[in-house]
Amino acid sequence: PANEDKFLIGMSQANKGEPWRQAMNDQIAAAAAAYPELEVVFADAAQNNAKQVADVENFLQQGIDLLIISPNEAAPLTDVVAKAYDKGIPVIVLDRKVNGEKYTMWIGADNVLIGQKAGEYVAKWCKDKAITPCNVLEIRGLEGATPAKERGDGFREGIASNTDVAIIASQNADWLREKAIPVSQSMFAANPEFNVVYAHNDPMAEAAIISAENAKIDLSDKVVIGIDGLPTLDGGIKSVMDGRINVTYVYPTGGAEAIDWAVKILEKSVEPERTVVLETIEITKDNAEEMYKKFGGS
Ligand code: FRU
Repeated sequence: PANEDKFLIGMSQANKGEPWRQAMNDQIAAAAAAYPELEVVFADAAQNNAKQVADVENFLQQGIDLLIISPNEAAPLTDVVAKAYDKGIPVIVLDRKVNGEKYTMWIGADNVLIGQKAGEYVAKWCKDKAITPCNVLEIRGLEGATPAKERGDGFREGIASNTDVAIIASQNADWLREKAIPVSQSMFAANPEFNVVYAHNDPMAEAAIISAENAKIDLSDKVVIGIDGLPTLDGGIKSVMDGRINVTYVYPTGGAEAIDWAVKILEKSVEPERTVVLETIEITKDNAEEMYKKFGGS
């Protein structure tokens, strides 16, 4: 640490090139600024597991007092997180999970629940419109990242009440808008009879909308669902206000909560909770404007 009076926190980010992760970093920096006793150093793995392992190793060398990590994928990051924890360094895992038990606490929203709500929305929409079969295209997040599996599993539970709903194609675009453009393009070409696009995040939902525009596919009688609901000009809530995405789910980054807990852990003022589950909010045309204001949309 540069200054021996300060606590040094290492923040290991999976990919700050994605807007939601940049927001997480910003929230961590803003929250930490309120505590003069904290110094936060950031590392970015740019979606590379090996780089993220090296980032954490590097933090250990630097002598961090606490690790915050949002792991790119669970399995490849599990051992290095366990190594930090076994050295007695408190570890806060944010949003995506690692395997096993070797971390201090996990903070994040319930991705199974989000997927389930999205599925229930689809089940009801298809029923109300009497569409049968009601065909869903799913654009998934990075396979080894826990939210992708959880959002997929929850969705399947959510649609189960309406047997007319069918997932006719499911493809991976690794959370990335630029990958989701060709992926959605080929999904539309192979499955012209679709009614719903369920994308595991808003950037991939936006990509699907762009592909549809390019292919002159009319989305007005279809549903596009995303997740994240960032309150920014190019974020999901605005997209719902503009009638592009039909539904999104606010997926809080947990950045501020991570810093609050880090302070409590470092000052040993309270025992950390093992899991802190953050709330999600379903955003539709009905509440988008109100929520945009509430979250300080800019
Ligand atoms: C950004 C992101 C978000 C998503 C989260 C899941 O990397 O893909 O869009 O909600 O990660 O961990």
